[in-house]
Amino acid sequence: MNNFENKKILLIICGGIAAYKSLEIIRLLKKKGALVKTILTKNANRFVTPLSVTSLSKEKVYSDLFDHKNEAEMDHISLSRWSDLILIAPATANTISKIAFGIADDLASTVVLASDKKIFLAPAMNVRMWEHPSSKDNVKKIRNIGYEIIGPEIGDMACGEYGEGKMTEPEAIIACIENHFKNKTNNKKFKALVTAGPTLEYIDPVRYIANKSSGKQGYAIAKSLKNNGFETTLISGPTNLDLIPGVNTIRVNSAKEMLDATLKKLPADVAIFAAAVADYKVNKIESEKIKKKDNLTLSLEKNVDILGHISKHNSLRPKLVIGFAAETNELEKNSQKKLLEKNCDWIIANDISNADIGFDSEYNEVSIFYKNMKKEKIQKVKKSIVADEIVKRVIEQIN
Ligand code: CTP
Repeated sequence: MNNFENKKILLIICGGIAAYKSLEIIRLLKKKGALVKTILTKNANRFVTPLSVTSLSKEKVYSDLFDHKNEAEMDHISLSRWSDLILIAPATANTISKIAFGIADDLASTVVLASDKKIFLAPAMNVRMWEHPSSKDNVKKIRNIGYEIIGPEIGDMACGEYGEGKMTEPEAIIACIENHFKNKTNNKKFKALVTAGPTLEYIDPVRYIANKSSGKQGYAIAKSLKNNGFETTLISGPTNLDLIPGVNTIRVNSAKEMLDATLKKLPADVAIFAAAVADYKVNKIESEKIKKKDNLTLSLEKNVDILGHISKHNSLRPKLVIGFAAETNELEKNSQKKLLEKNCDWIIANDISNADIGFDSEYNEVSIFYKNMKKEKIQKVKKSIVADEIVKRVIEQIN
């Protein structure tokens, strides 16, 4: 199957010697059936001409943010809306730094800022520019936004030097993008279920027992699954987070409600249990507010373990069951124990004694423990990137 048929690619060409290779990118994309609109930055015009671009793409070339003729037909917002994917190739150090800082001073950078589409960048620059701490920081920043960086490669450069900084070859860039579209199409057949957020176990009409949880990591995983084509259901305890368009979200309060909603949504191919489920609930919820006294004794009983229940279920167990472990100490030992006791395939563990990560933070650092005793670490990055990394591994596993 051709993964490019009628896909709308917005190609941004920046001003670097590798720009000549972007003509080959257009040719290959067109050959595969994609529709290609192109933006040339001011400096890109010095390396390739609008005429050669338009001849290959069979589309008008966009360049000027305040081009009144084009604005009427296709402004920066419409260009982003039109596209299924944006590819910046070559991405120069200058454009990368503008994107990292949200600068919008020309059509290319404005389109990127105005876009929520998948964005790929193929950097090309001198090795010393690529290795400069500023470039490293900027690339890290844009990776954290969720943009994909392809390359650069090591080799001889136009400036006569040798090192990392060469733009990846057009065929390899196309292969990366094709893989993205292929995943999206393939994954459509898979159902994913994610639990997230805390559960509230009411004691009386105003008080409850809960675990601390913002729900951010679970929501990011649901979003990434959806973006990768999965039919995704999110079962969420109370959070302040917005609904994710395209994700079927079911809001619950207690662990019992979360379990019931989960059972109702099974079977699924993959289930990721990111919720911070309260371990205990009161035997009996008081219907009236309990009056204050000097001492209060609550009688608690254990909540059902949703993850354990599902992953030991004879008929409803998803092919891939992933649990989380929030630990303050002995991360590996406790995670391995949970992996075994809860019969899951992977445990994703985070060290909640580290205030920089976990809970309300936008960042997380996790270790993944696999059933086959393998383990790996995802260093501190945005929760959205942790989510993408987890989903990448899910895709490899279930395919
Ligand atoms: N979990 C669950 N239902 C529960 C408790 C936990 O589904 N009643 C799931 C969580 O969503 C998570 C995993 O089990 O995926 C581990 O949760 P965690 O709170 O780290 O561990 P607990 O099993 O509660 O054990 P402890 O509190 O002793 O660490």
